[in-house]
Amino acid sequence: MSLKNRTRIKEALISPESDKAITVKGWVRTRRGNKKIAFISLNDGSTINNLQIVADVPAFPEDLLRQVTTGACISVTGKLTSSVGSGQSVEILAETIELYGAADPNSYPLQKKGHSLEFLREIAHLRPRTNTFGAIFRIRHAMSYAIHKYFNDNGFFYLHTPIITGSDAEGAGEMFRVTTLDMLNPPKTADGKINFREDFFGKETNLTVSGQLEGELGALALSEIYTFGPTFRAENSNTPRHLAEFWMIEPEMAFYDIDDNMDLAEDFLKYLTTYALEHCNDDLQFLNNMYDKELLGRLSSVINTDFERITYTRAIDILSAADVTFEFPTSWGSDLQSEHERYLVEKHFQKPVIITGYPKKIKAFYMKQNDDGNTVRAMDVLFPKIGEIIGGSQREDDLQKLESRISELGIPADELGWYLDTRRFGSAPHSGFGLGFERMMLFITGMSNIRDVMPFPRTPKNAEF
Ligand code: 4AD
Ligand code: MG
Repeated sequence: MSLKNRTRIKEALISPESDKAITVKGWVRTRRGNKKIAFISLNDGSTINNLQIVADVPAFPEDLLRQVTTGACISVTGKLTSSVGSGQSVEILAETIELYGAADPNSYPLQKKGHSLEFLREIAHLRPRTNTFGAIFRIRHAMSYAIHKYFNDNGFFYLHTPIITGSDAEGAGEMFRVTTLDMLNPPKTADGKINFREDFFGKETNLTVSGQLEGELGALALSEIYTFGPTFRAENSNTPRHLAEFWMIEPEMAFYDIDDNMDLAEDFLKYLTTYALEHCNDDLQFLNNMYDKELLGRLSSVINTDFERITYTRAIDILSAADVTFEFPTSWGSDLQSEHERYLVEKHFQKPVIITGYPKKIKAFYMKQNDDGNTVRAMDVLFPKIGEIIGGSQREDDLQKLESRISELGIPADELGWYLDTRRFGSAPHSGFGLGFERMMLFITGMSNIRDVMPFPRTPKNAEF
């Protein structure tokens, strides 16, 4: 029998009782019992539920069972029988047990007692073995799959945009430099500056903050595309909602105006939420019971409500009239802080809100300018407990307006020649947005810190694992 032949615990748990022995493999969650009988709770990551293994102690070498402790990895063969104990419908009566790897109880950090999420972050290499992180990472997988399925089913093409970029046009924040130059002895130009012509790419390069600009190139040829990849921001924001490395989904669509863009965003978010409820039930139930009793209710309510759509100007009016004191006061022209976004969503409207028509001075150069000369066709989607989950806009498709905005902002236009070519040749109205994948994961799982929905998070002063 090949080594990988096994029954997944997820399948074993729903299998009927049978006379044929099966083999399961996994990590021991707990072991209890006495000198005669041992009950081993086994998990292989296929489901949040454990399979109970019953072992007749005298039938096994003492040295073997002694090492079957929390964290050990074993392979067990035996018959699946209906369980007399409560809590499970089937269990395995062990015939053979093979120990792959022991886990010394004196040093294995995950013991039966619960651990704090903070402690688990320090052992991110082992936390996938906990119920909580098993659930989160299975949901993360399901959401990734659902994202591709949604776009594929709707005629979008997955476009791979570069991770190393030579332009900082987006202005989304500080970037991480990519270089092969010797940092202790970099080549210099005549005027004493670092000579990036001698660098790997012959110019300054960074890790991308967004795939959007290249995504637009794709949309203006394939009509509807999306990207789904890692993005990087070197801002020093140590908040529960920011990562230095995060994943973003960025659809970009020709022939979509801002209303079409909002319709897509709303439909997409509802689709993903529905998908999670339909496919991740056990894991969501666990997270609901363990961390956030309102989680399942909140997910259902988002599917069943129309998102509120308001202008930035109306948002400012509501916030100015609000009966609460914000840390940051608001006035027309100021950017909305997380406290304002959450007030609108959680207190005022009590549902997701899409804000459009932001002041042009607080938004990126590429957003389509409204005729009022002050606002742009931006849209931010705000979610309960999260704040901003999506940022997007209709794009400026008029070459002259775009060029004048670029020069107003002092962006080096020569770096953007390739981008401007799309407006020069066969320009088209188009729109797009970016969904922060980990923010979506925060919403779906009900977790409150973004470090807990990313397998190996990168934040200021933290790039362990
Ligand atoms: O609003 P942002 O900066 O928009 C863009 O990057 C556009 N180029 C997107 C587009 O139109 N194609 O970022 C989009 C989303 C935010 O709404 C947020 O969900 C997430 O990305 N995000 C972050 N998530 C985690 N950590 C960070 N540091 C994030 N910064 C943005
Ligand atoms: Mg934004």
